Amino acid sequence: MSSAQRKDDHVRLAMEQHRAHSGLNQFDEVSFVHHALAGIDRPDVSLATSFGGIQWQAPLYINAMTGGSAKTGAINRDLATAARESGVAIASGSMNAYLKDPSCADTFRVLRTHNPDGFVMANINATTSVDNALRAVDLLRADALQIHVNTAQETPMPEGDRSFAAWAGQIEKIAAGVDVPVIVKEVGNGLSRQSVLLLKDLGVRVADLAGRGGTDFARIENGRRELADYAYLHGWGQSTAACLLDCRGAGLPVLASGGVRHPLDVARSLALGARAVGVSGGFLRTLMDGGVAALVTQITTWLDQLAALQTMLGARTPADLTRCDLLIHGSLRDFCADRGVDTGRLARRSTANGSTATDSIDALHEMTGSTR
Ligand code: FNR
Repeated sequence: MSSAQRKDDHVRLAMEQHRAHSGLNQFDEVSFVHHALAGIDRPDVSLATSFGGIQWQAPLYINAMTGGSAKTGAINRDLATAARESGVAIASGSMNAYLKDPSCADTFRVLRTHNPDGFVMANINATTSVDNALRAVDLLRADALQIHVNTAQETPMPEGDRSFAAWAGQIEKIAAGVDVPVIVKEVGNGLSRQSVLLLKDLGVRVADLAGRGGTDFARIENGRRELADYAYLHGWGQSTAACLLDCRGAGLPVLASGGVRHPLDVARSLALGARAVGVSGGFLRTLMDGGVAALVTQITTWLDQLAALQTMLGARTPADLTRCDLLIHGSLRDFCADRGVDTGRLARRSTANGSTATDSIDALHEMTGSTR
């Protein structure tokens, strides 16, 4: 099968999957403690974020998807237009198709020609040579380079890679050999804390956790197999919320993507420590159903509502959301117990020492001898 056909299949199967998805995922097990008097004034709210030497005016981006065929080139052109009109960053799909066959260069180059001043990320796999990584960055005049890691996609993929041992070493070489920030991303199965700690040692600047809960590439590749005999890999990996909890304090800035459905999931991700939040399948679906105008409206509405949520929660910046009290429920709470994440601290972190506001007031009353 040609690489162009595979790219078209990915788009078709991802959209079929999105239409059939229940819409539920583990973000539903994260809630904010509501503090009725925490609110601030909307003009005091900023959406700006920075991480790993990168500065964005908004903590939202269109994550890696496509390119490599005529159809997907047209999708990239429209995604680039939506990124330009809404002011968010955008990533290309894997550029390995271009590196093997430069005749499809235009299907990727549109990401830059239709978005000349935007923040554009090139995307490659972890077996790419440093020279080819530089070619990918050059073609898009990219501001950053994403390297995807996707063993749970390759495994059921009929023509997939079966040799993974060299990936870490190659990531280290690429990170040392390019002069733009390198972001390593999963494709929907999630990065564990151990993976993020290793990436830090390899010289990677940012990790995109890209967890379970949205587009499922094990399912997509299994759907491309004649016997579809890898169905047991559907839903492999950790959810994005679980990854964020697992990777707190790992010492590398993290981005969140995978199963982000609405502005509250964006706010939850930021509160769990993400510096920015990526969406792929959901934005592609809007584009396919309603065209560029619908996608621009969706992105600008999400940004407007994110600012509204920050206003309600008292967060002047996206980073301030990491001081909001969070409750972790259900199976995500079990995950935290097993991985040593202190959910009690998360639930009481808005007060400096982790005690509740009531504890503080009680302590004050004790000191002053007053009673309640
Ligand atoms: C993807 N994704 C992806 N990721 C990557 O690093 N390189 C790629 O070429 C692609 N290709 C691709 C095609 C299509 C059609 C989709 C929908 C997605 C994965 C993507 O960047 C993201 O990690 C996952 O899709 C999870 O996010 P969502 O879709 O749940 O928001």
